[in-house]
Amino acid sequence: MKQQTPKELQELFHSYLNGLAYARNPKGLYEPIEYVLDIGGKRIRPVLMLLAYNLFKEDVRSVLPQAVALETYHNFTLLHDDLMDKADMRRGKPTVHKRWDENAAILSGDAMIILAYQFLMQDCPAEYVKPVMEVFSQTALEVCEGQQWDMEFETRQDVTVGEYIGMIRLKTSVLLAGALKVGAILGGASVQDAQTLYDFGIRIGLAFQLQDDWLDVYGDPKVFGKNIGGDILCNKKTFMLITAFEKADEETRADLLRWVTAKEFEPARKIAAVTAIYNKVKAGDICQAKVEAYYQEGMRLLEQVQVEQGCKCFLQEFVTGLMHRNL
Ligand code: IPE
Ligand code: IPE
Ligand code: MG
Ligand code: MG
Ligand code: MG
Repeated sequence: MKQQTPKELQELFHSYLNGLAYARNPKGLYEPIEYVLDIGGKRIRPVLMLLAYNLFKEDVRSVLPQAVALETYHNFTLLHDDLMDKADMRRGKPTVHKRWDENAAILSGDAMIILAYQFLMQDCPAEYVKPVMEVFSQTALEVCEGQQWDMEFETRQDVTVGEYIGMIRLKTSVLLAGALKVGAILGGASVQDAQTLYDFGIRIGLAFQLQDDWLDVYGDPKVFGKNIGGDILCNKKTFMLITAFEKADEETRADLLRWVTAKEFEPARKIAAVTAIYNKVKAGDICQAKVEAYYQEGMRLLEQVQVEQGCKCFLQEFVTGLMHRNL
């Protein structure tokens, strides 16, 4: 099996994406789409899809439209997510609702879901249309469910670790897992291998979102590309916040609750105060340990996929790189 490196797949994906033109009117609808798809990003979902496909088949070019579908859907979630999270920066650039306005983020985002379905269908072999559509639609709906839980948790103070994991499984993991499964299905994988790759993706997705939450507090804004402390300002019930409530002594817990429920505050002071509590109870380290545990679980699942172990090197390499990311 001729296999391509993650870097080669990423480049292949980029050259295909750059060749697509959105020269349609009205510009107000398509410019934000081009903007967000052009400003970069790690392209994790398409690369995962292509890596999974390449475990079983060689002609990765033939499934590039489906890879674009996944990236377009992911970028749609970002447009709406940034609106919901009141986030002004993404990938080091102003978010669509800042650069244009809220309506642009809503409608261009909506159009991206439709474009995603068009790409998904483009040149998809007839036998795979139904299974691919099923995985994608289920995944896309689950992401919305996860986003809704995430929003509802903002105003709750009794969110458990189990609920948090369930929420990030939906908002983040299923899309990574779904990307792997779509790649496997298109590659003609057995039902079992497609499912094992999906399960692997779920674990990697959980580790990935835990890492994202950690970076939201401890990342370098210039590298991470998003404003630091956004989750703290929104009272996101991240693993670190839940852990801090659990581990803090009575006085610190009361202090934390005051910050989380405060109606008026200076943003920088709140971020500094909550971060100081995280440091005190070592919430960041506990979070990193959990990242590592899910990563290890994922790697054990990958071992069970019924292809030559050597073929999995690039998938292992790519995912290991993700776990040590700083953007
Ligand atoms: C951001 O995803 C949203 C999360 C699931 C944390 P990525 O970190 O993959 O974003 P880009 O596409 O690389 O910018
Ligand atoms: C990611 O959650 C989930 C989706 C975008 C669906 P976040 O809200 O943590 O993502 P970022 O940090 O804004 O990229
Ligand atoms: Mg969010
Ligand atoms: Mg967000
Ligand atoms: Mg985040």
